[in-house]
Amino acid sequence: MAIQNHLLKLFILCLGSIILVPCSSQLQTSQAWSLLRIQHLLNYPSVLSSSNNFTDICDAEPNPYFTVVCYEESITQLHIVGNESTPPLPKNFSIHSFFTTLTRLPNLKVLSLRSLGLWGHIPAKISRLSSLEIVNISSNYLYGVIPHEVSYLKNLQTLILDHNMFGGQIPDWIGSLPLLTVLSVKNNSFNGTLPDSISKLESLRVLVLSSNIFHGKVPDLSSLTNLQMLDLEENYFGPEFPNVGKKLVYLMLRKNKFTDNLPAEITSWYQLQWLDVSSNRFVGPFQPSLLSLPYITYLNISGNRFTGMLFQNMSCSDALESADLSENLLTGSMPACLISNSNKIVVYSENCLATKTQSQHPSSFCQNQALAVGIVPHKQKKVSVVKAIRLVCVVGGVIIGSLLVAILILVAIRRVNASRAKKRPPRSLIEHASYNIPSKLLADARYISQTMKLGAFGVSSYRLFSLEELEAATNNFETSAFMGEGSHGQMYRGSLHDGSMVAIRCLKLKKGQSCQNFNRHIELISKLRHRHLVSALGHCFEYYLDDSTVSRLFLIFEYVSNGTLRNSISEGIGGQKLTWSQRIAAAIGVARGIQFLHAGIIPGLFANNLKITNILLDQNLVAKISSYNLPVLSESVRSEVVAGGSSNGTKDGKTKHLDKIDVYDFGVILLEIISGRPITSQHETSIIKNELQASTAVDGSSKMKSIVDPVVRRACCDESLKTVMEICIRCLSKEPTERPSVDDVLWNLQFAAQVQDAWRKDSSSSESSPFSSYEPRRSLAA
Ligand SMILES: *[C@@H]1O[C@H](CO)[C@@H](O)[C@H](O)[C@H]1NC(C)=O
Ligand SMILES: *[C@@H]1O[C@H](CO)[C@@H](O)[C@H](O)[C@H]1NC(C)=O
Ligand SMILES: *[C@@H]1O[C@H](CO)[C@@H](O)[C@H](O)[C@H]1NC(C)=O
Ligand SMILES: *[C@@H]1O[C@H](CO)[C@@H](O)[C@H](O)[C@H]1NC(C)=O
Ligand SMILES: *[C@@H]1O[C@H](CO)[C@@H](O)[C@H](O)[C@H]1NC(C)=O
Ligand SMILES: *[C@@H]1O[C@H](CO)[C@@H](O)[C@H](O)[C@H]1NC(C)=O
Ligand SMILES: *[C@@H]1O[C@H](CO)[C@@H](O)[C@H](O)[C@H]1NC(C)=O
Ligand SMILES: *[C@@H]1O[C@H](CO)[C@@H](O)[C@H](O)[C@H]1NC(C)=O
Repeated sequence: MAIQNHLLKLFILCLGSIILVPCSSQLQTSQAWSLLRIQHLLNYPSVLSSSNNFTDICDAEPNPYFTVVCYEESITQLHIVGNESTPPLPKNFSIHSFFTTLTRLPNLKVLSLRSLGLWGHIPAKISRLSSLEIVNISSNYLYGVIPHEVSYLKNLQTLILDHNMFGGQIPDWIGSLPLLTVLSVKNNSFNGTLPDSISKLESLRVLVLSSNIFHGKVPDLSSLTNLQMLDLEENYFGPEFPNVGKKLVYLMLRKNKFTDNLPAEITSWYQLQWLDVSSNRFVGPFQPSLLSLPYITYLNISGNRFTGMLFQNMSCSDALESADLSENLLTGSMPACLISNSNKIVVYSENCLATKTQSQHPSSFCQNQALAVGIVPHKQKKVSVVKAIRLVCVVGGVIIGSLLVAILILVAIRRVNASRAKKRPPRSLIEHASYNIPSKLLADARYISQTMKLGAFGVSSYRLFSLEELEAATNNFETSAFMGEGSHGQMYRGSLHDGSMVAIRCLKLKKGQSCQNFNRHIELISKLRHRHLVSALGHCFEYYLDDSTVSRLFLIFEYVSNGTLRNSISEGIGGQKLTWSQRIAAAIGVARGIQFLHAGIIPGLFANNLKITNILLDQNLVAKISSYNLPVLSESVRSEVVAGGSSNGTKDGKTKHLDKIDVYDFGVILLEIISGRPITSQHETSIIKNELQASTAVDGSSKMKSIVDPVVRRACCDESLKTVMEICIRCLSKEPTERPSVDDVLWNLQFAAQVQDAWRKDSSSSESSPFSSYEPRRSLAA
């Protein structure tokens, strides 16, 4: 009777697995309902038409038009992208109902609703979506001003309103969004001047205001030390050149009302890749050293009144792909480095250059100008760019600049009368040039912001440590505190004055970096706090005395005392090797940690090069991932090591399946958990995986268990073991698409834990457990 009971229970559990597997992370019903409602309110757009029941949506393969990301059964990201030319939704569409429905997804962090025909004012209730970090509602028909309630979205990092019909001014409260990194309002009807408060957005990296009706002076942006992209195209900004930081990568001023000359210091913007000042009213000498900025790929000064003489022997950057100097008043001859290379797109028509290849102003026009003689740009020297830069600033900018103004007025008048025989280069040439800077910047701009977040669970809140504190904690980094040296620097154990233990990772940095360079990394690191991660507690910078750049970065983590997962399996903790239940629990912990890294933070961390030796256990045997793909490690550290790359899984780094890289590495960990054998190479992985595959294929418990760690073999339930073995094999699939999702993995492990648990209770309460017959009891005595 008892036996029957057990069997029945097990049967029910197994049945459960069959029914439940497809819905491994079921969405809460209310959220699935909200999606249905959204589908209805959007008038059933074709991109959603295939779905009539969103219960399983968390498991669906993401596609470019419709993606939902869930974390712990609630929707954190919603992306719906309609057809490019979607007309406005019909009259009965209500933006208010639409946003009311959205507010039923309270954990939404990323909201991307593009080209869906949305129209109306953004309602005030958007403030209820207080978790929002990234909003992209471009290419709709939204109008009116940006409501004040957007200022309550304190987590907002990215706001993209491109291609709508918004109007009014950029509000003054914009400066109160502390984390704002990307602000893009391209192609709307915003007007007025920019508020000065914009200069408070210290995290801002991308500011795109093109194709609006802004006018007037650009506020001082020099305090925005992170600003990399500034796009003001097609507005009425001017007349002063914007005051921006030196670190700009992309500057677009095309079609505005800027006058005067370019500032001399522009030639020291050593990170500049894209400069377009075309179609303005700039005057003054062209600074040829712009051509030799180390990273410059695109330079367009066309349609201004730049003057100066060019020489054949001038140098230009190898990076330069396109230069347009047309419609200016340049003299001399084109630099050979520009025209000898046919891969570059070079336009220089409508100047006064000595050339026959592209049409120039008539010589009568040019000769009448005092320009053709006498104005010699500073000497170009073949020195390092940095030195050249300094030289140009002084000579080019100041002296010649003032000399020229008078002459130029004259030139300007004459020029109007000049013939306008325009011959643009072939269109196709220009259109073929493709530059990815903006999208690249936008894509990784999601990273930063500076505010430190407070601790949300057991460990103390994230904070700044002082160097003195760390020295005291480690006895001046004495050898007894030394824990080891990894590819990314040394690790020390420390004891803080309150007695708590910490692990301190010390990273030696490449020279010449300021602590601002690390802001975005620090921001990310401060979010890395989870029960199944060795969580970050804080950081500390050490500076060089001479120039105040950062020499070392210390990252302080919790100290996890019980050794690695490998250790607990192969040697055991206090002589006790982990039981099957404990192993499943550890595996579940690791999977939860991975789930957090992928979906619990934004941006997610993928390709974490997970290894069993990097999984630590604390005193309660809670598994914690101790090493993850910190960007700070791969970018800035002085070691030569490149992250990842050990296993088959890490090679197929297609962005689409990034999450599956970690799933593979997790499979390797699982393989070691099952077999109990340390796996140290790709070769061993495939051998043991094949054995595993063979043993799951055969009938009969003892054969199946032959590969399993003897410690486990003696006390585990077949069903549980089989579930884990199968999920392990799936994780190790060669094809990333065939690997299960993290949620799927987690569900299966939890199922295995349940079955094992039920089996254990039964086998200990009943003498005649049906399972004991599978494995002779005598092995326990051995
Ligand atoms: C709007 O009206 C159309 C018919 O004109 C109807 O099919 C649609 O369901 C209505 N939409 C809403 C949100 O009421
Ligand atoms: C949605 O599908 C799941 C199974 O895929 C089912 O259990 C559920 O009842 C369905 N819900 C609706 C509203 O059809
Ligand atoms: C977009 O609309 C065009 C024309 O209406 C149609 O041919 C195309 O299939 C649509 N694309 C999608 C993804 O719905
Ligand atoms: C925002 O949406 C537009 C399309 O409407 C897209 O081109 C752009 O890449 C999106 N930006 C981000 C950062 O997702
Ligand atoms: C500007 O936005 C409108 C929609 O508001 C769109 O129709 C138009 O194509 C966009 N213009 C450009 C240049 O992208
Ligand atoms: C700016 O736009 C708003 C709303 O579109 C309009 O009411 C206002 O008159 C405009 N101001 C100027 C100076 O054009
Ligand atoms: C330079 O800018 C002008 C408009 O200001 C544009 O017409 C031209 O195509 C640009 N040149 C190149 C090479 O992109
Ligand atoms: C470049 O050529 C000009 C005149 O042709 C000459 O004066 C100058 O010294 C040359 N510069 C270098 C670096 O050779």
